Amino acid sequence: MAMGGGGGGKEGGGGGMAAQAGRLGVAASVAINLAGIALYLRRRYFGDGGKGEEELAVAPSSGKPPVTKDSVINLDHGDPTMYGAFWRGGAGERATIVIPGWQTMSYFSDVGSLCWFLEPGFERQVRRLHRLVGNAVADGYHVLVGNGSTQLFQAALYALSPPGAAAPTSVVSPAPYYSSYPAVTDYLKSALYRWAGDANMFDADGENYIELVCSPNNPDGGIREPVLKSGAGVAVHDLAYYWPQYTPITEAAAHDIMLFTVSKCTGHAGTRLGWALVKDRAVAQRMSKFIELNTIGVSKDSQLRAAKILKTISDGYDRAPAPAATAGDDSGRLFHFARRQMVARWGALRAAVAASGIFTLPDEVPGNCTFTKETVAAYPPFAWLRCEKEGVNDLEGYLRERKILTRGGGKFGADGRVVRISMLDTDEAFAIFIDRLAAMK
Ligand SMILES: Cc1ncc(COP(=O)(O)O)c(C=O)c1O
Repeated sequence: MAMGGGGGGKEGGGGGMAAQAGRLGVAASVAINLAGIALYLRRRYFGDGGKGEEELAVAPSSGKPPVTKDSVINLDHGDPTMYGAFWRGGAGERATIVIPGWQTMSYFSDVGSLCWFLEPGFERQVRRLHRLVGNAVADGYHVLVGNGSTQLFQAALYALSPPGAAAPTSVVSPAPYYSSYPAVTDYLKSALYRWAGDANMFDADGENYIELVCSPNNPDGGIREPVLKSGAGVAVHDLAYYWPQYTPITEAAAHDIMLFTVSKCTGHAGTRLGWALVKDRAVAQRMSKFIELNTIGVSKDSQLRAAKILKTISDGYDRAPAPAATAGDDSGRLFHFARRQMVARWGALRAAVAASGIFTLPDEVPGNCTFTKETVAAYPPFAWLRCEKEGVNDLEGYLRERKILTRGGGKFGADGRVVRISMLDTDEAFAIFIDRLAAMK
């Protein structure tokens, strides 16, 4: 095994030197061989070709591929990647967390709590953010955490459907409704509840029902209240978009069940975290039970990360308590940054629609925002785009031929001359979409 300069023994310069060189050579050779063994073991057990541990531990996926001007532009999903620019700035550094290997190992977060898998730090930041924005009353409400608000929506259906009822509870929402509502309600063909379509067409007399109230509404941005008033029904308020970048905050919502998500508030859809504010203890307990049965709780790692993200947003406003007075400098203030983006995007979209001449959009509705203390228009996360051109009855197909992917009206209980377009994608994808739309005649 011994090899190298020392072992070969270059004479001269004295025996001491030779002996020292020999010792160094042996040490070097041992080091080389230990490294070799380590590499062999790593390859054998991890099959990673010897990449650095650091790289393996933190290298993230990069999301959707970048676009060029000839790409297919996918604006079908509401993937909120446009907030990336905010988080890549200083706020991103402040939102960084490190989770040592020994942390977050137990299933439990707070054994004594109704929602035993809810991280207390996440709950604190949720309550703090609602106090800051004033969009919902959190005092006197139970906070529940879910794997996205998608899981909490299902938890609410489970909690609100009487188990022994003769027929499944009807789940309705006024068209156009969020396209996931029918799909998520029915995919397991539950005996507890079933999708019953457009709330405006539903005969609520003597029927158990759950009305899903999405406000601002996905897909058309409308501000909504329940349309059904019968005593046998209950409402679930999906307030995913009730944040200042999308709509003026006009009051602190105080409904029985309110659903929120970091996806649309902060842009962290990949963290897969939502929360519910629930007034009634028994309903909150049943919702919590659903999540226990469904996924045995919610990732603590995600909750810690989301807590830090929400904290970073609130801290940003604590540092600059008079946002309206300093409008224009929105560094560190997420809602101001995001609103500025939405204003610019809606301006570009309305200009493209005017240049094209074959499309229409819903009107802008202004309101007084209690958060920014300004009168502002609503800038919804989706454009509900209608085509007025003769013969275009399948607008989704028409745009697909022009390499723009959208979601057709049929999936929302509307007609095929209208589509939903995400306003939240990357700057690059949005700019290409605008150029293509303006050129359609
Ligand atoms: C109205 C509405 N609710 C809920 C969701 C889902 O949110 P999450 O990512 O938290 O599951 C969406 C996502 O597009 C949505 O538009």
